[in-house]
Parts: sequence; structure tokens; C-alpha cells
Amino acid sequence: MKFSLFDESKSLEVIELFRKVFSESEGQAEGQVIADFVTNLIATTAPEDLKGCTAEINQTVVGCIFFSRLTVPSGQIAFILSPVAISSDMQRTGIGQKLITYGLDHLRSLNVNLAFTYGDPSYYSKTGFEQISEHIVKAPCPLSQPIGWLAQSLDGQVIEPMAGPTKCVEALNDPALW
Ligand SMILES: CC(C)(COP(=O)(O)OP(=O)(O)OC[C@H]1O[C@@H](n2cnc3c(N)ncnc32)[C@H](O)[C@@H]1OP(=O)(O)O)[C@@H](O)C(=O)NCCC(=O)NCCS
Repeated sequence: MKFSLFDESKSLEVIELFRKVFSESEGQAEGQVIADFVTNLIATTAPEDLKGCTAEINQTVVGCIFFSRLTVPSGQIAFILSPVAISSDMQRTGIGQKLITYGLDHLRSLNVNLAFTYGDPSYYSKTGFEQISEHIVKAPCPLSQPIGWLAQSLDGQVIEPMAGPTKCVEALNDPALW
């Protein structure tokens, strides 16, 4: 297993991985929604605002995650993890957790202060995410499932309440994704 930073030459392979994994887990329509989202994320996000990571076996991508910049009112540096896909035949073998840990370590090396995500708390708690109230940090779009709003500090500081809105990158700024 090789973990690497996302390289644009892998874009098509990565988009197809997201399409396949989400089609298999949530149906073809959702597979298309996520493939479109990832296509848009890669095409419209400035390189300094997007950090992707891949897991490869024999030069085939079997897992991919993206972190994109979340602008928060405290002025701290924050990124949000979304989306995440592990090849269906390789799920539940620990690749997802290893890949997320690899990505969080990379963010720490860039002096990122905060990481957010929006998903299943029982899964993301395995890599240090905890539920966070919107009274502490607002989500950039209305949340259909507020229990899925999750965060972790990467610099050892407690996450202090911050007043004001947060802003995600354009590709993620779609209420249908939240
Ligand atoms: C969800 C997903 C990213 C997890 O990655 P993974 O490599 O399969 O997970 P890991 O092997 O690191 O960890 C699995 C453990 O997490 C726990 N877990 C909790 N919620 C889970 C969930 N929704 N899916 C998978 N595992 C989950 C389980 O305890 C599991 O251990 P077990 O098999 O012993 O019960 C992957 O299954 C996937 O791509 N699913 C389809 C797409 C998706 O839902 N993406 C996330 C939303 S963006």
C-alpha cells in the first residue's frame, strides 16, 4: 500500500473511483452526484485550497480523500475533509483510517490548525473527529444532519467558539451536498 498526495494526472482515475464506490453503496444517481462534485472540486479549487491523498496498490488507486479550505472567522487555518471513498472490495480493512491519518499528518505539517468533516460520527471518531455544535463553529451551509458536523484541533489548542459565518470552496458550496 502506497499513500501519496493527490496528483492531477490521477484525476480521471480518482473521479471514476468515487463514481463506482458511491454507485455501489448508494445507487447510480448518488455516484453521479459525487463524481460531478469531485470533478468540480478538482477543476475549480485553487491548488493551495485543495489537498488530496490517495492509497494505491500496484499503481491502482484504491482510496482517495480530499480536504478543501474552510475559511473560519477566527483567522485560523482550517480544512474540511470531503469526500472519502475506499474501493468497495477493500473496505473495512483499515485503509480509510490510514489514509485519513496520513492526510491529517500532512495538514499538520502545513501548520493547519483545524480539520472539519461532515459524516458518520461513529466512523470519523476513529481518526480523532468529534461532534461540534454550530454554536462553536457554524457550518458553511444548512445541515440536514447536524449530528454529522465534526471537527478536531490539529495544533493541540481547544476549539474556541467563534462568531460569524464560515466559507467553503465553491464546489462544496452546494446545499444538496449538506
Ligand atoms: C466509509 C468508508 C470511507 C470507510 O473506509 P474503510 O476503509 O472501509 O474503513 P476502515 O477499514 O478504516 O474502518 C472500518 C471500521 O469503521 C467502523 N465504521 C463505522 N461506521 C462505518 C461506516 N459507515 N462504514 C464503514 N465502517 C464504519 C467499523 O467499526 C469498521 O470496523 P469493522 O469492520 O471492524 O466493524 C468506506 O467504507 C467507503 O468508501 N464507503 C462508501 C462511500 C462513503 O460512504 N464515504 C463516506 C462519506 S463521504
